[in-house]
Amino acid sequence: MDRLIVALDFPSADTAMHLVDRLQGTCRWFKVGMELYYATGNCVIDRLRERNLEVFLDLKLHDIPNTVAGAVRSVANAGASLLTIHAGGGERMMRAAAQAASAPDSPELLAVTVLTSMDAAELSAVGVADQAGLGDVVSSQVIRLARLACSSGINGLVCSAEEVSAVRKLMGPGTRLVVPGIRPADPDSSRAADDQRRVATPAEAISRGASMLVVGRPITLALNPADAAAAILAEIRAAD
Ligand code: C5P
Repeated sequence: MDRLIVALDFPSADTAMHLVDRLQGTCRWFKVGMELYYATGNCVIDRLRERNLEVFLDLKLHDIPNTVAGAVRSVANAGASLLTIHAGGGERMMRAAAQAASAPDSPELLAVTVLTSMDAAELSAVGVADQAGLGDVVSSQVIRLARLACSSGINGLVCSAEEVSAVRKLMGPGTRLVVPGIRPADPDSSRAADDQRRVATPAEAISRGASMLVVGRPITLALNPADAAAAILAEIRAAD
């Protein structure tokens, strides 16, 4: 249960907490992203923390170094355990964020490499080329950004299951690698990829080296979210 993070992509704290109730204690980690945080602020984090649940604050900060450092300080005491920034913001931005997050009680920072919704064509269209010559523009960019994050003082990363084994090899066992874009293979609980492009099953992601999985719609839109979460947890345990 410590390796599954349920994404609470909801517009209000009440709808988010209703889903948490329906999970009946099967999950301990919850992701508060832009939709929910912009609607509720710290209120939903307080409600999750009252139940001793862990919060992954997925704000994907990406701005000039001074602004990102200020944003990290502003949410430092909100009660989240993890906070995301975009590795694409560059070395100085990540260093400023890491420095801001060195204050007591601050969340651990994770650098988002390439969004799991992007494929090679979309990445090329925004001007990213396969400079490392790996033959795969997405993997090249993920590895490049993972190295940059590491040398900028950020030790946790978000990537897709397609790159996680290469990133694990590069970073070693001690780095927290968080993998979204998860779609269970079980025909009863499987969904279309939705807007995701680089997807894998929970077992594939775990066996390739993911530390934690982020799962949203396969659980939140399931007829029985507790059953969907339990099936994913069983798949994680079996692949471990
Ligand atoms: O519903 P689904 O399982 O696709 O949700 C995945 C969650 O993970 C979303 O909340 C999304 O914001 C987040 N995420 C992602 N890709 C990243 C980083 C975060 O899909 N690279």
